[in-house]
Amino acid sequence: MESHTGPHNQRVFRTLHVQAQEIPNLFRRMQPRLYSIASSLKAYPDSVHITVGINNEPYPGLCSNWLASLSEGSEVPVFLQATSQFRLPEDDAKPVIMVGPGTGIAPFRAFLQERAACNSPGRNWLFFGERHEENGFYYREELEGFMTQGCLTHLHTAFSRDQGQRIYVQDRMEENGEELWNWLQEGAYFYVCGDAARMARDVDSALRRIVARYGNMSSEQADDYVSNLTRNGRYVRDVY
Ligand SMILES: Cc1cc2nc3c(=O)[nH]c(=O)nc-3n(C[C@H](O)[C@H](O)[C@H](O)COP(=O)(O)OP(=O)(O)OC[C@H]3O[C@@H](n4cnc5c(N)ncnc54)[C@H](O)[C@@H]3O)c2cc1C
Ligand SMILES: NC(=O)c1ccc[n+]([C@@H]2O[C@H](COP(=O)([O-])OP(=O)(O)OC[C@H]3O[C@@H](n4cnc5c(N)ncnc54)[C@H](OP(=O)(O)O)[C@@H]3O)[C@@H](O)[C@H]2O)c1
Repeated sequence: MESHTGPHNQRVFRTLHVQAQEIPNLFRRMQPRLYSIASSLKAYPDSVHITVGINNEPYPGLCSNWLASLSEGSEVPVFLQATSQFRLPEDDAKPVIMVGPGTGIAPFRAFLQERAACNSPGRNWLFFGERHEENGFYYREELEGFMTQGCLTHLHTAFSRDQGQRIYVQDRMEENGEELWNWLQEGAYFYVCGDAARMARDVDSALRRIVARYGNMSSEQADDYVSNLTRNGRYVRDVY
């Protein structure tokens, strides 16, 4: 079936006769999918890890399901897309605050491995969330290990559906707003990774509320403060 717009702006369809082998040519070329690197080469010099969430609604996601179906030893065609902004601060004494619910945890696992391997003196604070603690606390043992080691200074979790009322990472941020503000004043970098549509927007609003409240600012002044963080590379997002 082929369509074009008719003289009165209506869609006009006509039937095309094609050979079965021509059908693939009618579609746009399949696009590559991007995945954040979830490991540090200092911790795993011979491998690269990714954290893949399987998207099944409303249809099974193509690449995530394909990756999940692979057996050990399978070959996967990959390319690297470097990031210029989403990196740990050059000064490894700077504190970092990481907000990464769901698959957004991926780059922060890599950050923590890197900071642990380098014995970086900077403090690290992670906000993580998923639906249920039982099956959604990704990398739990490793994260708890970072806490024991002292590499992870704070770990705040929000398991949204483990109680009657939804709790999200930004609720944990607000519960700890004063300390978060103090970290920002001490030069902390603020990173967000994961869902762009809802989470990143709500985390951004929570950040602005915290700045306004604990910095005693109007909402316009808080917006300026956050813009300054962004301009100075201290508020960085990788959202999708
Ligand atoms: C910078 C960046 C970093 C990323 N990092 C990660 C990461 O670390 N981990 C991770 O898991 N993902 C990450 N992603 C997302 C990832 O690239 C893919 O988008 C994701 O895995 C979904 O791909 P898919 O092929 O499985 O789904 P797709 O086949 O692309 O489908 C995407 C969504 O559309 C729906 N859909 C499919 N067909 C239809 C249809 N006909 N009508 C309506 N809806 C439909 C599916 O149900 C699914 O929810 C990142 C994305 C970016 C841009
Ligand atoms: N998982 C899904 O249902 C789903 C659906 C459509 C698209 N996607 C896409 O898949 C990618 C990442 O998904 P993911 O599996 O890593 O995790 P995700 O869907 O981002 O979910 C992770 C956690 O974030 C919570 N969450 C939902 N809305 C939020 C908000 N406004 N603020 C803060 N947290 C919120 C979720 O809670 P609740 O789910 O309990 O609300 C869940 O506990 C994104 O591109 C996302 O848009 C996911």
